[in-house]
Amino acid sequence: MKRDCGSLILHTAFIMAFQLAVSSAGRRIGFDLLRTTTAAVDIRRGAVGNTSAAVTDHDSHRKLKTINHLPEIKTCRMLWRLFFKGYLNRMHELQLYEKQLYGPLYRVNAGNYKCVSISSADLLEELLRKDEKFPSRGDMTLWTDYRDMRGIGYGPFTEEGEKWYNLRTVLNKRMLHPKDSVQYGDVINQVVTDFIIRIYYLREVSPTGDLVSDLANEFYRFSLEGISTILFETRIGCLEKEIPSETQDFIDSIARMFTYSMPVVVLPKWTRNYLPFWQRYLNGWEGIFKFAAKLIDMKMEAIQKRVDANQEVAGEYLTYLLSNVKMSSKDIYGSIAELLLAGVDTTSNTMMWALYLLSRDPAAQVALYEEVNHIIKDDRVPTAQEVNSMPYLKAVIKEALRMYPVVPMNARIMTENEVVIGGHFFPKKTTFTLMHYAISNDEKVFPEPRKFKPERWLRDGRARPNPFGSIPFGFGVRGCVGRRIAELELYLAVARIIKLFEIRPDPTIGEVQALNRTVLVADRQVNLHFVERQNTPQS
Ligand code: HEM
Repeated sequence: MKRDCGSLILHTAFIMAFQLAVSSAGRRIGFDLLRTTTAAVDIRRGAVGNTSAAVTDHDSHRKLKTINHLPEIKTCRMLWRLFFKGYLNRMHELQLYEKQLYGPLYRVNAGNYKCVSISSADLLEELLRKDEKFPSRGDMTLWTDYRDMRGIGYGPFTEEGEKWYNLRTVLNKRMLHPKDSVQYGDVINQVVTDFIIRIYYLREVSPTGDLVSDLANEFYRFSLEGISTILFETRIGCLEKEIPSETQDFIDSIARMFTYSMPVVVLPKWTRNYLPFWQRYLNGWEGIFKFAAKLIDMKMEAIQKRVDANQEVAGEYLTYLLSNVKMSSKDIYGSIAELLLAGVDTTSNTMMWALYLLSRDPAAQVALYEEVNHIIKDDRVPTAQEVNSMPYLKAVIKEALRMYPVVPMNARIMTENEVVIGGHFFPKKTTFTLMHYAISNDEKVFPEPRKFKPERWLRDGRARPNPFGSIPFGFGVRGCVGRRIAELELYLAVARIIKLFEIRPDPTIGEVQALNRTVLVADRQVNLHFVERQNTPQS
């Protein structure tokens, strides 16, 4: 497997959504901003006419400020920071720096890039509680163009409005409720078992006999196998020594699609007929959908055969979607592809950060080992219900996601409503960027924010942090659809690994820093020692 595809995945929808949202909404918002210099008048009109659900009567009695009262970052300063101060790859750190300079609410006004940044838990809560019925992160034409050309339906990322809502209603079932995700426990456990076998193999061939190198890549394989097994109800061989060639083509297609997204998004549309990037970008999508369609069609045939033979149709997520009258197969292709792309880098990087943090904190590792060992005796494989009742394990994952929110920035566009946030009035179509990294590293909410302290999250009588201080899966109806599956994958894998191995740092790699490639990734290859515990037979 090529290493670069791991770090490229989720150079995905989020950056696309974010960049496109910011540029296109920026264009739209520009007009509105000009009109809001006399905001007090507009607000009164809004309140009296009751046109806005978000701007309340209560708000109208207060003296509201406008967007023009906010500190502003202009193009030159933005470019200076990104390109000369080196924040381009460390935009999560830029969030901290700008919060220090401007406070938790400021605006960016850089060419087409116009938005309002929010970087405190209170303001984030205020905004998200006023989120619209059909929340929007922005324009996804980069992804929808291909689907339109090929007549493929949109998935949860790309769909908007009422259609998105209806789609989510179908997709949420069997996925979002904790009791639904439990049903995937056995499937995920099979993948974890193969992953453990792979860890033993990698240790064996390592120079020290216990080193696993390039964990991000290994977890990428694990996550892709896990989510594919759930979505396609078929194993695709990512954990085998030799990856099957069709699967490798699929992985390369994902990498190709992301690699060529960048030139395609930057270059004007007319260049598509003259430069090779657009065609290569399309080839990437062709490969992704070819692979997905083959597996989906096979499943469809199998279901049809059972129906024809009057046999019961049983299965998991794909079978559920295929048996759903509301979804055509072109909609299923669209949704499965997006679920798959969203579910790999997110889970794999979270796993990498969690193990890296544990390797550097022996006390936390002992606490986790004791919890796991207390519940899981001998070499038994833990069930989904069992890991769901391990508070320290959950706290470890929550803390890893707080320190390294794998999606460090998100966006919302208020398409329907004017809104008041932090005593400021914002017109319709304002783009808000949600600075999750700055928020979850706020020392007022999380004392000693750069210290790994899973105990912050324990319900043992201590004061619990503001829930909006760390919302790594987003919030509300547009929140992550794969959350429960991701959590289950993380819990089952980390519990099994910690039960079998003590994880120790590789001193040769030094202190790992985060880079922002849309998801937070490590700035170097992370290797860890997996020292086998005594009396823990190989599973
Ligand atoms: C640790 C793992 C993961 C993290 C931290 C994560 C985080 C997120 C975040 C922050 C969002 C945006 C939510 C919002 O705008 O409020 C999101 C959306 C989404 N996630 Fe995840 N995710 C993870 C794993 C997964 C998995 C495994 C899947 C697939 C099964 C998945 C599928 C999606 C989809 C389809 C959306 C778009 C939902 C929509 O727009 O309606 N994610 N995720």
